[in-house]
Amino acid sequence: MSDLLERIADLIQQKFGIMVQTDWTVLLRNALLKLDPTGVHQEQFRKTGGCSDQFLRHLAGEVTVKESYFFRHHLHFHYLCALTQQTLLAQPELPSFSIWSAGCAQGQEIYSLAFFLLENIDPVFLSKIHLSGTDLDERAIMQAKAGLFHPWSLRHVSQHLNEKYFIKINRMQYKLKPHYRLPVNFTHASLADYCDGLPDQVLDVIMFRNVSIYLTRAARAELYSKFKRILKPAGRLLLSPSDAFPEDKAYQPDPDHNSVFRIVSEVKVRPQPEQLSLSDQRQTSRTRPGPARKQPIHSPILREWKRCSLSQSTFWPVVNDDADGLLNRLIILSNSGKIDEALRLVDTMICKNPSYFSGYFWRGTLNLSLGKYEVAANDLRYVVFHEKDNYIARYWYTLAMELNGENKRTMYHLNKLIEDLKGLNAMETLANSQTTVHELLRAALERRENLL
Ligand SMILES: C[S@@+](CC[C@H](N)C(=O)[O-])C[C@H]1O[C@@H](n2cnc3c(N)ncnc32)[C@H](O)[C@@H]1O
Repeated sequence: MSDLLERIADLIQQKFGIMVQTDWTVLLRNALLKLDPTGVHQEQFRKTGGCSDQFLRHLAGEVTVKESYFFRHHLHFHYLCALTQQTLLAQPELPSFSIWSAGCAQGQEIYSLAFFLLENIDPVFLSKIHLSGTDLDERAIMQAKAGLFHPWSLRHVSQHLNEKYFIKINRMQYKLKPHYRLPVNFTHASLADYCDGLPDQVLDVIMFRNVSIYLTRAARAELYSKFKRILKPAGRLLLSPSDAFPEDKAYQPDPDHNSVFRIVSEVKVRPQPEQLSLSDQRQTSRTRPGPARKQPIHSPILREWKRCSLSQSTFWPVVNDDADGLLNRLIILSNSGKIDEALRLVDTMICKNPSYFSGYFWRGTLNLSLGKYEVAANDLRYVVFHEKDNYIARYWYTLAMELNGENKRTMYHLNKLIEDLKGLNAMETLANSQTTVHELLRAALERRENLL
């Protein structure tokens, strides 16, 4: 690297905390040709050893890695949908729920979340959700604002969702359909500067995924400290598994969710259901919604779950894609009550093929039988999100939400399910199942009546 390039690279590292990489020689040389064709800034740099903040930010934006794609670490989006809905339900007085994508590249991460929120959140809450994204690269921010994407970013988007959310402009460009765009406030800035411009405790969630790996240790620590100031009590920090986790004890890892941290000074909003009788729980969840995690054994809902449980194979998919016998093993394990073993097996299946929807379906229902309603709802939501006509999954999804105390949301999805089922031939057997439309509709109607 020439002396000038080396000094510019050092300044970028010093100012933005981004670690100098070997390929910066070429990247910086090209960036200077593009951004400073007359050499004015380089001359200034030679004389003073510095340049304007804006020019340095543009240069830095040219050397950062902007690899990103839709639905990356998708379980985080399920998690955030549940968190957003639960928080807004539990605290109706909250004016907003704010989520920031720190290092947003062209917006793939925050738009993915917007899709999930649009599909899963009670529409009455949507206007309270504030989404924002910040990046050092001005071109990336312009693209994000325009909603323009290279097909490479869409490589994990199924054809169905691709057609639903995007318009193909040409072979190299897709554009977000305006109808599916929740407003996102994009800013071209360094993360540190952006944080400094925010007041204390304003954000509910910071998504800081796949950014810290490019930063120096000191820069990471400084950002984690700034995040702590701007996150609300109980605010969440979401990282990717490859990011360096914060060393600051103020961030507590969430044992149930990978790479999710919460600020420790948490305000508890959920009631403790164990001390309440069933009728109390029902009343409480209506007026002060919160999950009734451990329903007493006499709960009619739980009885229903038992009635429809794995062993009786009611509402259960017919196995027809079991090339390696894993699903059959899974059924045997489930039927003989070895649920933990079955869960381990299904985890392996999902690891082998993360876009295998049946895996999430099975894991969701297994967790449901274990009373892990929130976890179950997350998996089932994933299936429902991708397979709208998987009515069985939709049924279990509403049950998981109901058991998790999310009555309003349950009602919303149950109503939608009932409406859709009424539009089908009652005697038809549902896809991949032994259940008829009529049977499922009857069960759904019964549940709705209990909820009213
Ligand atoms: C690898 S991408 C990750 C994008 C997205 N978060 C994801 O997980 O898919 C990292 C992004 O962080 C941005 N970035 C890196 N350091 C930054 C800094 N100090 N300030 C603002 N943006 C930064 C880069 O420009 C790049 O777009």
